[in-house]
Amino acid sequence: MSAYGSFPGARPRRLRTMPALRRMVAETRLHPADLILPAFVREGVAEPVPIGAMPGVVQHTRDTLRKAAVEAVSAGISGIMLFGVPEDAKKDALGTAGTDPDGILQQALRDVRSEVGDELVVMSDLCLDEYTDHGHCGVLDAEGRVDNDATLERYAEMAQVQADAGAHVVGPSGMMDGQIGVIRDALDTIGREDVAVLAYTAKYTSAFYGPFREAVGSSLRGDRKTYQQDPANARESLRELALDLAEGADMVMVKPAGPYLDILAKVAESADVPVAAYQISGEYAMIEAAAEKGWIDRDAAIMESLTGIRRAGARMILTYWATEVAQRLNRG
Ligand code: PBG
Repeated sequence: MSAYGSFPGARPRRLRTMPALRRMVAETRLHPADLILPAFVREGVAEPVPIGAMPGVVQHTRDTLRKAAVEAVSAGISGIMLFGVPEDAKKDALGTAGTDPDGILQQALRDVRSEVGDELVVMSDLCLDEYTDHGHCGVLDAEGRVDNDATLERYAEMAQVQADAGAHVVGPSGMMDGQIGVIRDALDTIGREDVAVLAYTAKYTSAFYGPFREAVGSSLRGDRKTYQQDPANARESLRELALDLAEGADMVMVKPAGPYLDILAKVAESADVPVAAYQISGEYAMIEAAAEKGWIDRDAAIMESLTGIRRAGARMILTYWATEVAQRLNRG
């Protein structure tokens, strides 16, 4: 009995009293199938190379990548997104290694497909920054600006080469105007109507990509502000969404995830295709670093960050913790 008669009449705490009850009423659940593992594969190394700013993440050799893919299948996650890291000497202004049928990403796609077949959705990052010596996501014009339409031609070729190498899904991440339409066309032209396009629809210029630069050995000159979105803007993401859907995107993505949950919620509300979110390198690094200092509970922070992204509307999440989290979920 309350000292104030029947006050308070409403007691939301009743449903929080015990774990079984909390579990019963939980609106958001994480499942291994929600998760996609981004993975880096580096050309010409005999051992995996640790990425300093992403403790626990490595640049795989072709061999350890195969193992990571098998482990991902056992953990029950649904996909893997591959990034190629070519030898420095192979980087050039046009990103030629990105369209070489024997380029590192294409080799890795064939490796992973031969290892796991269709048990994992095999996706490829479709962008030039890993392969260009200037580090931009496209080719440059005479004034050094990223040339949108010349880049589209490179993307079309990349899509075809990645499809040939075994990608089930290509993920264009360069934010060039018209990239989804051109890539869809390029795939259809070679009879690959079956290959799906996961569009990086809302991709913001972000300081949180920092550790990724180390991960792919990129030496970006300048920044990406003329093609990636301004963090100040929300409405243009809906415009990007409308364009990507009109151009044939099968799935759409918001990136980064944590600092852009409002964008994710808006996109999830209006998209009629599956929506993904990418918990990027800096989001990973922040939690790992704070945990290493003993400032936060690592595992709890990871689960909370992923639950927040799911709650905001992501059907699937790309996260560097995908396999680890799936294994934890499987243990219950
Ligand atoms: C571009 C690309 C980037 C990331 C994924 N694809 C880098 C960028 O846009 O600067 C970042 C992923 C991460 O930070 O985890 N190919």
